[in-house]
Amino acid sequence: MTLDGRTALVTGSTSGIGRAAAEALAARGAHVIVTGRDAAKAAEVVAGIEHASGVARPVIADLATPSGLTALAALDDVDILVNNAGYYRFAPTTATNQALFDALVDVNLRAPFLLGQALIPKMAARGHGAVVNVSTVAARVGTSTSAAYGAVKAGLESITRAWAAEFGPSGVNVNAIAVGPTHTPGTDAVVQVLEGLTRAFPLGRLFRPEEIADAIAYLAGADYLHGATLAVDGGASVVVPAPR
Ligand SMILES: NC(=O)c1ccc[n+]([C@@H]2O[C@H](COP(=O)([O-])OP(=O)(O)OC[C@H]3O[C@@H](n4cnc5c(N)ncnc54)[C@H](OP(=O)(O)O)[C@@H]3O)[C@@H](O)[C@H]2O)c1
Repeated sequence: MTLDGRTALVTGSTSGIGRAAAEALAARGAHVIVTGRDAAKAAEVVAGIEHASGVARPVIADLATPSGLTALAALDDVDILVNNAGYYRFAPTTATNQALFDALVDVNLRAPFLLGQALIPKMAARGHGAVVNVSTVAARVGTSTSAAYGAVKAGLESITRAWAAEFGPSGVNVNAIAVGPTHTPGTDAVVQVLEGLTRAFPLGRLFRPEEIADAIAYLAGADYLHGATLAVDGGASVVVPAPR
């Protein structure tokens, strides 16, 4: 599948899954807009894509601020929007204060909604486009520390289905991916805990960001899919853990 001639905005592409998704989309021919808060990391990702003969440009934006959202919402050439930027903190309900709850909502739910609100109508006016919302296995499987994070991502999955109904008839494919534990800079500090969790499931190991990126690239080009949430979680949402 080629994405030649398409422009892709991948939020949170300075790190982890987003970085790998930016590289995967560029490798398939898309012009990629690399964005995050860290200008040095964005420049490094752009340089890597260009070194591999891809095309990329950076836009620095903090999705928790009005100015950051405005900068991205103003883009006129986005054909593929990957709402990947994520803020995740796992905490019991009694330890989830309002500031944490609000931060989870701002980056994981409010920002994707506002970016879609601004960018999808421009895709619809051109008659084609794709949105991939990055969710988590914790949106459908309860754990003792995921009430707020899981609820926010479940909201993003709900938006995915509504946008499929709203914008699909105009040629925009809106889908989501529910990701299982993946080794990224964001999870590096808890990698041993996550490895222990994944051992009980069919995949039996953590994902590599490139594997999740491959599925994101598939969804970005699947012009026959609407409103799906693809579980790329190593079986964690559908099987009973096996003792190992
Ligand atoms: N890793 C996992 O196990 C896992 C599992 C399920 C779902 N996910 C989801 O996958 C996505 C990526 O996770 P990851 O592990 O790759 O994360 P990561 O390595 O921690 O990277 C997070 C990315 O989000 C960006 N970001 C965070 N807050 C931002 C803000 N306020 N404004 C703009 N950009 C912001 C960061 O950019 P800067 O640093 O440049 O600001 C960075 O590029 C998230 O949505 C996460 O919920 C991850």
